[in-house]
Amino acid sequence: MNEQFGISGKVAVVTGAGGVLGSNIAKSLLQQGAKVVAVDIRQEELAKRVAELEAYGRDVIGVVGNVLELDSLRQLAGDILSRWGKVDILLNIAGGNMPGATLAPEQHFYDMDIHCWEKVTNLNMNGTVYPSLVFSKVMAQQGKGCIINVSSMTAYGAITRVPGYSAAKTAVANFTQWLACELALKYGDGIRVNAIAPGFFIGDQNRAVLINPDGSLTERSKKVLAKTPMRRFGNIDELNGTVQFLCSDAASFITGVVLPVDGGFSAFSGV
Ligand SMILES: NC(=O)c1ccc[n+]([C@@H]2O[C@H](COP(=O)([O-])OP(=O)(O)OC[C@H]3O[C@@H](n4cnc5c(N)ncnc54)[C@H](O)[C@@H]3O)[C@@H](O)[C@H]2O)c1
Repeated sequence: MNEQFGISGKVAVVTGAGGVLGSNIAKSLLQQGAKVVAVDIRQEELAKRVAELEAYGRDVIGVVGNVLELDSLRQLAGDILSRWGKVDILLNIAGGNMPGATLAPEQHFYDMDIHCWEKVTNLNMNGTVYPSLVFSKVMAQQGKGCIINVSSMTAYGAITRVPGYSAAKTAVANFTQWLACELALKYGDGIRVNAIAPGFFIGDQNRAVLINPDGSLTERSKKVLAKTPMRRFGNIDELNGTVQFLCSDAASFITGVVLPVDGGFSAFSGV
């Protein structure tokens, strides 16, 4: 493999590593020789994922943690520095929609549960900002590092029924640009901040709205596929190459981008 794409020996913090995308990306990083700190709020799920990840590399530790708790994130940064001496990569993957934050088809905006709006915007926006605040400081001191956030197709055009998730993932895209500029201007070209915007991948959060219990497509997923020129959902492994590229020296002049990995969804008018 071209050396430029290598990430061996890099220390990566992966939030949301107890989930579908986070654990798969953590697996891919381990396979490429990176060291992984897998963070998730769900203890049991994390323990299960970390046990699976250990088959792919020795250097993985699981840490139960909340991306919305600044003090424990600071503690975690100190612990990682004591153990591995540096933090090269932060992957802000913790996030997602929540059942109460999705409007049913017959509901109106006025029926929206404001507490769910607050929860979902807090997790997706501040859950990206807080770890970035803590770990970018370490990177600024090192003069080197890379952050990857997770935005969504909602940042390109309205997606019905998920107002809080849409607003927060659009904020993540904007924050990615802002932080990229801030860190490059103040600390030089060694620190990069980018985001990926996954299209539609079947995960635990969206399975029920995309796939009927009998395995057939829901009306919503038919609409998704009609606007996806590749006419299929993503396979979760299809995010891994993009993440590795953005983490590697091959992307050394790329900062502030939001890269869609979406089978063409964001490029297509549908006509
Ligand atoms: N699956 C998709 O198609 C898709 C598309 C676009 C964006 N995304 C985004 O990708 C990310 C991962 O999605 P997924 O499908 O793997 O979801 P998932 O629910 O499987 O994983 C999310 C993980 O985040 C963890 N988490 C939640 N709150 C946390 C907190 N406060 N602190 C620490 N961890 C916390 C959860 O426990 C869970 O393990 C999310 O940000 C989601 O919005 C997913």
